[in-house]
Amino acid sequence: MYTLEELKEITHNCRKCRLSKGRTNVVFGQGNPKAHIMFIGEGPGRDEDLRGEAFVGAAGKLLTKAIEAIGLKREDVFIANIVKCRPPNNRNPQEDEIQSCIPYLRWQVKLIKPKIIVCLGSIAAKNIIDKNLKITRQRGEWIEKKGYKIMPTFHPAALLRDESKKKPFWEDFKEIKKEYEKTV
Ligand code: URA
Repeated sequence: MYTLEELKEITHNCRKCRLSKGRTNVVFGQGNPKAHIMFIGEGPGRDEDLRGEAFVGAAGKLLTKAIEAIGLKREDVFIANIVKCRPPNNRNPQEDEIQSCIPYLRWQVKLIKPKIIVCLGSIAAKNIIDKNLKITRQRGEWIEKKGYKIMPTFHPAALLRDESKKKPFWEDFKEIKKEYEKTV
């Protein structure tokens, strides 16, 4: 079994899919390697690709606020994505890219062993919970899978495009806070 650092090294040399060709940096994800809660997004954007860190752009600022609203700091949690290299022009990651990359994320989850996983947006939720999941219908619902408590909610970038998603997003974070305090 590799350590998280060794796994990071492996992903930095990954050439399994076409996204590796366009990347500046592999965005492994960052945070507390023993985090009780993990946040999983879709894939790196421009800022993340340049910095090599997940959620450091505009959506990241909003995620930071939400993490602080549950009484935590970014360093307390672990933040990662479904794919570790930026899709060109921020398009959605394609199915074969996801299938190449997701074993790394599963591996990270096994090493970190969080109690709670929050899926940010439809791509994360579909690939972690259920391919047929409808984010607008199922956000805010807890799902138990393999001993993890998992909640899908909106992607913070979606809130920046659509104001009406703000209220449900913050409501979901209130539930996440409750569950975190109960579980941890
Ligand atoms: N959007 C994501 O899904 N992930 C990031 O790391 C940044 C923006």
